[in-house]
Amino acid sequence: MTMSALDVIGDDLKVALPTGEPVRFVHLDYAASAPCVEAAAAAVADLLPRYGSVHRGAGVRSQASTLAYELARDVVAEFAGAGPEDHVIFTRNTTDALNLLARALPAGTTTLLFDGEHHANLLPWPNPRRLPAEGDPVEALRAALPGLTGPAVLTITGASNVTGELWPVRELADLAHAHGVRVIVDAAQLAPHRRISLTELGADYIAFSGHKLYAPFGAGVLAGRADWLDAAEPYLLGGGASASVGDLPGDRVWSTGPARHEGGTPNLPGAVALAAVCTALAEADRDALHRHEQDLLARLREGLRSVPEAVEVSIFGPDQPRVGIVSLALPGHDPALVADRLGKEHGIGVRAGQFCAHPLVRRLTGSAVAGSCGTSGTGLLRASFGLGSRAEDVDRFVTALAAVLRS
Ligand code: ALA
Repeated sequence: MTMSALDVIGDDLKVALPTGEPVRFVHLDYAASAPCVEAAAAAVADLLPRYGSVHRGAGVRSQASTLAYELARDVVAEFAGAGPEDHVIFTRNTTDALNLLARALPAGTTTLLFDGEHHANLLPWPNPRRLPAEGDPVEALRAALPGLTGPAVLTITGASNVTGELWPVRELADLAHAHGVRVIVDAAQLAPHRRISLTELGADYIAFSGHKLYAPFGAGVLAGRADWLDAAEPYLLGGGASASVGDLPGDRVWSTGPARHEGGTPNLPGAVALAAVCTALAEADRDALHRHEQDLLARLREGLRSVPEAVEVSIFGPDQPRVGIVSLALPGHDPALVADRLGKEHGIGVRAGQFCAHPLVRRLTGSAVAGSCGTSGTGLLRASFGLGSRAEDVDRFVTALAAVLRS
């Protein structure tokens, strides 16, 4: 059977139930790592016969590999809406990209951020000033902006990895910019589900991961304004980051451009795979994909009405637009045990816990189970989906969840 670029590899993976009956594995943990799509795997397979060193050789393999790497950068730049003045730097993942940027901020930068962030966008930042992830975030930011001195950034997630809710990035960005504050968007969860564009989001920087974007070959991206990146110490000291090195310690000139922060041999298969998915998504009917995902989301939330033991959590309320992620508090149950049983007894993969977003999950769990018997702090159960997900996946999850919670 011929596969299409956005077909999921392993979509028909079978697992055995305790009875021995084989069933199709239902993968509902895309928010942690999405499955690989055909475009990514094909791009890597196509590359390997020509694979060689990037920026480091004169032979045909090296030339082809250097070209493939720089073409991948161009494709990713377009996908992220980066302009000719912006840098597009390949990293390992979003965490790596945000750590890189955090180290490139000018000395004395203040970082504004909400405490609804996952740890990758909570922990790396200098001089953090945390705003509450409750109430109106625009008003919280408005109150925090006056009186800032020196350089400042606002770093904000596009879509919550816990609830899937979209943050009002554009509004926050416009407000931040009006006070001279630069804006960083963590698009780890947004990029797999929505078009992303630095310009349309009103962002100065954007970061995302290949492994959440159907390209699990170890590449991520940081894209955005060049000036601070070119002025900063290289992220990784070594070949590529250095333009020339003299005989004395400290006698060296760092590269400018993306190379400054891509020390060492880069991850060519990762970059090529990521770019291939960006191309496939750019050529796809994104509106149709969006409609399908929103239909699944509506089906899941409707189905969950028959499972009142599971309480959906949200930051902004149930009507906030969201991507295909739903987290549930399970008063009286341990979400980790429920997830384990869903896997073993029903062939369904979900994630349980605090999703590397401890402050937010603690707050959501506490409020969702307030007054009930002692599950506070054990976290949530999360179902997340995307390309290749089916109505039957959602239905099997709802049925299985009810069965597990009631037995
Ligand atoms: N941030 C990833 C998740 O939500 C790892 O699962």
